[in-house]
Amino acid sequence: VITQQDPRPTIELTDVDPETLEGEVLIAVDFAGVNYKDAMVTGPRNRVARRSPLIGGVDLAGRVVEDRSGRFAVGLAVLAHGHAIGVGHDGGFAELAKVPADWVVPLPEKLDAKAAMVLGTAGFTAMASLARLEHAGIRPGDGPLLVTGASGGVGSTAVGILAIAGFEVVASTGRAAETTFLTRLGASQVIGRDEIDDRPERRLGTERWAGAVDCVGGATLSAILRSLRYGGAVAASGLTGGAELHSSVYPFIVRNISLLGVDAVEMPAEARLELWDRLAGLANSELVDVILDEVVGLDGVPSALEKIAAGEVRGRIIVDPSRRSG
Ligand SMILES: NC(=O)c1ccc[n+]([C@@H]2O[C@H](COP(=O)([O-])OP(=O)(O)OC[C@H]3O[C@@H](n4cnc5c(N)ncnc54)[C@H](OP(=O)(O)O)[C@@H]3O)[C@@H](O)[C@H]2O)c1
Repeated sequence: VITQQDPRPTIELTDVDPETLEGEVLIAVDFAGVNYKDAMVTGPRNRVARRSPLIGGVDLAGRVVEDRSGRFAVGLAVLAHGHAIGVGHDGGFAELAKVPADWVVPLPEKLDAKAAMVLGTAGFTAMASLARLEHAGIRPGDGPLLVTGASGGVGSTAVGILAIAGFEVVASTGRAAETTFLTRLGASQVIGRDEIDDRPERRLGTERWAGAVDCVGGATLSAILRSLRYGGAVAASGLTGGAELHSSVYPFIVRNISLLGVDAVEMPAEARLELWDRLAGLANSELVDVILDEVVGLDGVPSALEKIAAGEVRGRIIVDPSRRSG
């Protein structure tokens, strides 16, 4: 349970009466995922948390225990993420969670709860990014696709699913030590964060990328815009490198490029289901194994959040509420 306080929120492992939880579908949580947004909710003086106290955890998967909407059978394997979960509505860092029926997604057949949370919101966002690029006409064979923040959750899954989908993937990371990890995921080349911008003083850089999946934002996104090839597109989902974006109109009007926003939070149920099905088809068990960094118990959540805030997670950390990390 996260309680917002100055200078920083407190996190406490405690008993909560399930009757006090709001929502229609009661879910026994088998696994939850730890995401960058969870670290934001527990960060000092944050403006992300919309309620206090709050059970954290923006990602959860488990089995239906009770459904007052009548839409889901008891025992059905489901997942839920996005909307207000873990931000303004009690989330997945718990043995039981309750959410509105509209937020519930039946698990695709190919995924169990553990694999679903290894992928989680991060993998879903990578999938949504791929779908946006495809919709913009970017195809395998067009040229290299850049993935930034490649060692993190969104980045590592993006490298993996883009490679499986047949794209040539160049992974950018601030951690050279993760080169083997990224190559194993299918990156044909791994470059440093500082190698993205070849001409920072120019409005247009060298045409390098047919497309890009960017979860870093800030100066990184601005450099990508300058270095997309003619007709290229970047799917932008994150801000780990900064929320400000400085650019000029030149790459748009000279190179016909597109900046595509990606939102995994408010996406309607039907589109969410479609993307989860596609992700389940692309993400094979090897990918899931490689991107799993660590499984922790509820008592391990605070240290997992510190690790993610420090940018030190390789792939994904998931939470198994039935275990104690010790
Ligand atoms: N739009 C949406 O709906 C949506 C959904 C999910 C996530 N997101 C956003 O996507 C971003 C990534 O989320 P995540 O869960 O994948 O986080 P994550 O696992 O912590 O990964 C973030 C990665 O960004 C890179 N990074 C961290 N600090 C950086 C800095 N100062 N400058 C440049 N790169 C930096 C690191 O990769 P390297 O070490 O490899 O460089 C890090 O591993 C977050 O901003 C999150 O809020 C958005």
